[in-house]
Amino acid sequence: MISFENKVAIVTGSSRGIGEAIAKRMASAGAIVVVCSRKLPDCEKVVAEIEAAGGKALALSCNIADKDSLQAVVHSTVQTFGRLDVVVCNAAVNPHYGSMSDIPDEAYNKILDANLRGTHWLCQMAKPHLQESGGNVVLLSSVTAFRGSQNIGTYAITKAAEIALMRNLALEWGPLGMRANCIAPGLIQTEFARALWENPRMRAKVETEVPMQRLGQPDDIASVASFLASDLARFVTGQTIVADGGMLIADPL
Ligand SMILES: NC(=O)c1ccc[n+]([C@@H]2O[C@H](COP(=O)([O-])OP(=O)(O)OC[C@H]3O[C@@H](n4cnc5c(N)ncnc54)[C@H](OP(=O)(O)O)[C@@H]3O)[C@@H](O)[C@H]2O)c1
Repeated sequence: MISFENKVAIVTGSSRGIGEAIAKRMASAGAIVVVCSRKLPDCEKVVAEIEAAGGKALALSCNIADKDSLQAVVHSTVQTFGRLDVVVCNAAVNPHYGSMSDIPDEAYNKILDANLRGTHWLCQMAKPHLQESGGNVVLLSSVTAFRGSQNIGTYAITKAAEIALMRNLALEWGPLGMRANCIAPGLIQTEFARALWENPRMRAKVETEVPMQRLGQPDDIASVASFLASDLARFVTGQTIVADGGMLIADPL
């Protein structure tokens, strides 16, 4: 049984999609969850739903590209609840869809700032509190980390870099009693990936060529996050769990 009783978790980008599913799953297993994203009212709605189901949560606004904003989330969490056990770095941005040859500098910087530097900052800020609790981080990477990409190349660079970041954290943090792991989801039916799963060609490919023949749902990823963050995974660190319905191992021929 997975239990987060007496544990406090921050889940970035938890107002919708995969982050919302992770927040709800952890809360249902006893965690106090800090639900954060840029739009506070959306986070408050998720918190109300968690509370209505008997869980505990706090809504905070947060922009992962803004250092002060991340620091405020960590500070408020520890001030309010006295501890921090789990950080799920889930929020990410991708303002450019198309060839990397055409990406404007502004979009390139935005993707790297939010997805990579923001994740680094949050882990750095959380470290002293996680060391105290013997906690862990889970970073949301992607199957794009392992493949070339025609349309989301810069985003894919950050998703590959998050795996490298996670490995470094696992190395440095292991002796201090903390863990770090990644999840690499396949195509999940959220707002973020709408352009992909609404594309009839791509959707048909998933539904015929990927072994499990369906799009992923946010809760398919929430269960993996919940396992990795829990004590059941206490000897697992430095790993990336691919949760893609078999997309990566599909026969290309
Ligand atoms: N969906 C997929 O197929 C897929 C596949 C592989 C990996 N992933 C990864 O899974 C993670 C979650 O994606 P998703 O599909 O659940 O996306 P989503 O449904 O679009 O949700 C994104 C969440 O992040 C928040 N967010 C966006 N920009 C933010 C920022 N700058 N600061 C703070 N919060 C921000 C959004 O809320 P606000 O707008 O209120 O900020 C929202 O809560 C991402 O890391 C993504 O790379 C997704």
